[in-house]
This record gives sequence, structure tokens and C-alpha cells, in this order.
Amino acid sequence: MSRIDTTRLQRLARAYTETAVFYAAIDLDLFTHVSQGAGTIAEVAAATGISELNAERLVVVALALDLLRRDDNGRLVNAPDCETFMVSTSERFAGPWMTFTRGEVPAWFDLTERLQDPSPPSELGLYDGITVERARRYHAATYSIGMGAGRRFCRTVDLTGRRKMMDLGGGSGAYSINAVSTFDGLEAVVFDLPAVTVVTEEYLERNDVTDRVTTMGGDFINDPLPTGCDVAVMASNLPIYDGPNIQKVVSKTFDALEPGGEMHLIGETLDSDGVGPLDAALWGMAEIHYGSGGRSHTVDECIGYFRTAGFVDVENTDFVPNTLTRTFGRKPG
Ligand SMILES: C[S@@+](CC[C@H](N)C(=O)[O-])C[C@H]1O[C@@H](n2cnc3c(N)ncnc32)[C@H](O)[C@@H]1O
Repeated sequence: MSRIDTTRLQRLARAYTETAVFYAAIDLDLFTHVSQGAGTIAEVAAATGISELNAERLVVVALALDLLRRDDNGRLVNAPDCETFMVSTSERFAGPWMTFTRGEVPAWFDLTERLQDPSPPSELGLYDGITVERARRYHAATYSIGMGAGRRFCRTVDLTGRRKMMDLGGGSGAYSINAVSTFDGLEAVVFDLPAVTVVTEEYLERNDVTDRVTTMGGDFINDPLPTGCDVAVMASNLPIYDGPNIQKVVSKTFDALEPGGEMHLIGETLDSDGVGPLDAALWGMAEIHYGSGGRSHTVDECIGYFRTAGFVDVENTDFVPNTLTRTFGRKPG
């Protein structure tokens, strides 16, 4: 029998130090410098403008975290994910997303007080009174990860023959931009809070899809949804709301869809037994910092929201393993 020890608990107690090193590496553009040839500690020090001692400290942790590796000649190279997503000169740079929640750091260390706070939650949480400026900063981050997710959606789901998609809480429009670029004849409407749609328009222009993607400002819980759509997608806003509100928006979507239409709910989802994945659990917890009523939802709950709304052929599949699932349902024709 293996002995019980404290290794796991000690790692957990200091896990924030790993986050801090990752943020510092991003700030110093470590992965870009390594990609461009900084292959020794001295070269990393020169490229990042820090001392050799500190470069050594940084590189030693990055090697231990498998962010950096050594090649056959002993020179530093990026791990494959860092080379693909953490090089700031690349189109696929996801740095803004990786530091998306950095502003929450002090709040996480006040979590005990927040858990003890008896104030009732608000409905919109983070999005209450969102301004265009805040939406612009927020969606610089979601765009940097959402375009990849949007591409994955179009590889996973065949929308051939569909005419119009509503993209609920569409943000930067990443899913719509990819969908209309992939499926001939498809149009889309990004539905999001009015301040956000100003920013959506900027991304639609940048991607040259304003002739096929429009926007509609509103609150998907309380306002009417777009009509005339045979596809609905709602991505990455599941833990922002509680069960009754998710049920409300799924049911409203069912009512608004054309007969025979389909809905896809993509979100961080707990397994049926409610035990993990950890990422889904923590996104639910993160809502405490925004005072919303949001929480993590299980796969079974998502299937239940769809069935209660009237959808048929309901199923839930992995979208990004251990991160996101996709719940699907069809409105009877
Ligand atoms: C995490 S972002 C996801 C954006 C996009 N779906 C993606 O995956 O890239 C969540 C989006 O939902 C929007 N949202 C949240 N609550 C909303 C509501 N009640 N009505 C409309 N949009 C809402 C936010 O403004 C934000 O743009």
C-alpha cells in the first residue's frame, strides 16, 4: 500500500507561484524570444533584459513546467503548445486570453471573506453596466481564444444548407465569423449586450464579413431573441448564470428557432456525478468575484434544460476534452 504524504497538498498550497511565473514569462515575451532563437540562459537574459541569475531562475521553472524544453544540442526551445500559442508575433497568439483573469488575482486571495458575504447575487454580474471600453479589452482576450474555438465548431458541426445562425452572447463574433466563412449561404446575427455589439462590429469589419453577419443588442435573459434563424449557438457563458436563467434562455431559443432548427450550447460543464473537471468547477467559483448567481452546471443538467425546452435528439459531447462540452438539440420540424 502506498504511503500517504503531503506532496499533493504542498503543491496546491503554492500553485499560485506557477501562475506568477507564467505571467512573468508572458510579460517578458519569453516564448517569442526563444522562438526567435534565444537558446541559452545568456541569450534569454539579453533578449528579455533581465540578469543572467534571474533568467536562469525563470528558465529552470519553465523547464520544470514543460513550457520550455532542450533540443538535441541542449538549446532551449518552446514546448509545442507554447510555440503555437504563446509567440506574440503569431496570428494564433493567445496571450491576452492567458492573462484574461489576471485582474482577479487579489480577489481570489480574499475568497474566504467573499464566501462569507451574505449579499444576494445580481443577475448580470460582470456584465452589469458594461461599457464599450471594457468590452473592447474583454473581447481582445476572448477573440484570441474564440477564433480557434470557432474553427473547431465548424470542423465538428456540419451546417451545410442552414440559412441563419443566432450567436447568443457572441462577443467578438468568433463563432459567426468562422461559420459564415465555412458554410456557403449561411448568415449570422450576433446577439449581445448593446455595448458589446459596438465591439463585435469592429471584429466583423476586421474579418470582412459585415455583409453576412449583423448584430443585435439586448439581454438574452430578458429581451426578445432574433427570429428567422435555423441554428443557435451559445458559447462560453454557461457558468455565468444559474439553472433557472439557463433554462429560460434555452427555452426562449427553442421558441425563437424555426421548426427543424438546432441549438448548440458550448460551455464548461461538470461530469454527470458533479466531480470535475476542475476547470468547470473553478469557472463557477470565479463568478463569486462578479457577484452573479452563476455556478457550474453538470452535463445532465444541460441535457435537462434542452429536454424541458422541447428539443429532441438531445445529446452532449466533448468539445474540448476536460474543458468544454457541447449540448445539442433539434426543434421538431
Ligand atoms: C465569455 S464571452 C463568450 C463570447 C463568445 N461566445 C465566444 O465564445 O468567443 C460571454 C459573452 O456573453 C455575453 N453575455 C453575457 N450575458 C449576456 C446577456 N444576458 N445577454 C446577452 N449577452 C450576454 C457577454 O457580453 C460576452 O460577450
